[in-house]
Amino acid sequence: MATDNNIKKKKFDLNLLRRIFSFTAPYRKTLYLAMVLAVVLAFLSPLRPYLIKVSVDKYIGNNLLMGLVWISVFQFGVLLIESLLRFWFSYRANWLGQTVVNDMRNAMFKKILHQNISYYDRTPIGTLTTRTINDIEAINDVFSEGIISIIADILTIISIIVVMLVTDWRLTLVCLITFPLLILATWWFKEAVNKSFQRVRNAVAALNAFAQEHLTGMYIVQAFAAEEQEQKKFTAINKEHRDANIKGIFAYSVFFPLVEIILAMSMGLLVWYGASRILNFGVTPGVIISFVLYLNLLFRPLRMMADKFNVLQMGIIAGERVFAVLDSEEHLPDNGTKTADTIKGAVEFRDVYFSYNPGTPVLKGVSFTLPAGKTMAVVGSTGAGKTSLISILNRLYEIEGGEILIDGADQKAYDIYSLRSRIGIVLQDVFLFSGTIADNITLRNADIARSKVEEVAKMLGIHDFIMRLPGGYDFDVMERGNTLSQGQRQLISFARALLYNPAILVLDEATSSVDSESEQLIQHAIDTLIKGRTSIVIAHRLSTIRKADEILVMDKGLVKERGSHDTLIAAQGAYYELYTAVEQMKEKEVL
Ligand SMILES: Nc1ncnc2c1ncn2[C@@H]1O[C@H](COP(=O)(O)OP(=O)(O)OP(=O)(O)O)[C@@H](O)[C@H]1O
Ligand SMILES: [Mg+2]
Repeated sequence: MATDNNIKKKKFDLNLLRRIFSFTAPYRKTLYLAMVLAVVLAFLSPLRPYLIKVSVDKYIGNNLLMGLVWISVFQFGVLLIESLLRFWFSYRANWLGQTVVNDMRNAMFKKILHQNISYYDRTPIGTLTTRTINDIEAINDVFSEGIISIIADILTIISIIVVMLVTDWRLTLVCLITFPLLILATWWFKEAVNKSFQRVRNAVAALNAFAQEHLTGMYIVQAFAAEEQEQKKFTAINKEHRDANIKGIFAYSVFFPLVEIILAMSMGLLVWYGASRILNFGVTPGVIISFVLYLNLLFRPLRMMADKFNVLQMGIIAGERVFAVLDSEEHLPDNGTKTADTIKGAVEFRDVYFSYNPGTPVLKGVSFTLPAGKTMAVVGSTGAGKTSLISILNRLYEIEGGEILIDGADQKAYDIYSLRSRIGIVLQDVFLFSGTIADNITLRNADIARSKVEEVAKMLGIHDFIMRLPGGYDFDVMERGNTLSQGQRQLISFARALLYNPAILVLDEATSSVDSESEQLIQHAIDTLIKGRTSIVIAHRLSTIRKADEILVMDKGLVKERGSHDTLIAAQGAYYELYTAVEQMKEKEVL
């Protein structure tokens, strides 16, 4: 689990709160409306108990029936208006929260989409999922249960206390003797819940990360019969989740009855002191009844307040983490303006240096030229830097030194999107999105007609293979393409690459051997792919290698040999050794 998933205890950070609220800027009117409603509701709340006091003292006490009817009707009207306003307030405040969250999540995803690939090498997927889903949800609560409603509650409390004091200040003070007790209990509750809240959040993050990783790697878990030990690990994480929740539940279970007791104490004091004053003609029955109602109104928001402060605090912490992603400036400096629409595809590497992590170079001065329309095969042992070589061609990663020229111009001079759209890529591991075959070929670009997709598939010779699948182009490949074989997946990714008719084609051949029918399909498809366009093929098939105009032999980040098949064979160097070794192996297989 990433360390930044750990939530640390933090003080309120007003700047962060302000920044969260800056997202309401387009919806200022709704924000102001919600605030005005909060104030109005706060001042309306003591009105009904007050009216009851008047009914009791003035009308019931004096047997004025008509007056009683009228004041009851009035009360009903107040109730109606109050309920309507309350509905409006809650609806608008929640609307605001959801809308802000919607905007934030979009901003977040946009940011994530444009982040450097190297950012993903460092940031666990689980963390980003938590940011875009859970954290942003926590910010929603700031609006629906957090700040506005806290302000509303505080105003309600103040207005009720003021009305109580004005009605009878001595009685009020007696009733509120229990207040310090209540504040103490609230403070304890807030701290306890906050602590367990943090533990729960961390446990949820751990559960998420664990489940995600193990579902993805289920194949390995089962193949290695590691179910039992994984179950043990899961049980431990799950137990932490339960314990953390139970701590929180304990605090709730203690706090709510405690508040009831304190309320009962206040009521007791009210009755005791009030009754003794009724007897002495100091206070009316209406006052006592209204005070019972006031106390109830007073305790209700107080009981919720601690919870709301926690929600607010969690929202702010979540905001901080969301902003950390929003603020990270890890996209490529993209100030190229040249369009790549008409490039022919000549590629030149001039003394290129590259590293994923500063200090450990993966490419150490690679140079080669590849004229437009030619094919270059890249060979070399595992970890030699072959995949890295093609990852820097379309600027998935930024190089450290040297130059990469495309049609004689620095790759950085091109508009990056334009450049990438002219470089077709087939990677070693084919990733398929859940959706249909057609979706996966077009990447859900609705502008591309089905006929175009079929045309490309026919060109590659894979149309028949696709049509044999149930549903043909509408065959559902499911998550990560698990329903297809590796060879089949690669064939689909060929179509994906060819669809845009790229000027430069980059192909990282999968090492896995496939059956001979698929092999033929793949071979034919590769031939079609590379014909007439500049191609860089990280090749494992001798047939592909032999057909290449140029062969680049890589070793530990360096170019060891370069030349055509015949020249390299004649030179009797590294390539010669590699080639003869593979040839011998093939012969053995035949025998
Ligand atoms: N995302 C990454 N972050 C850090 N280091 C990486 C990353 N990808 C590759 N490397 C390192 O860069 C070096 C070259 O890797 P690369 O993937 O280019 O090898 P390769 O020649 O394609 O190997 P293979 O034939 O196994 O595919 C390796 O030492 C590898 O550990
Ligand atoms: Mg590789």
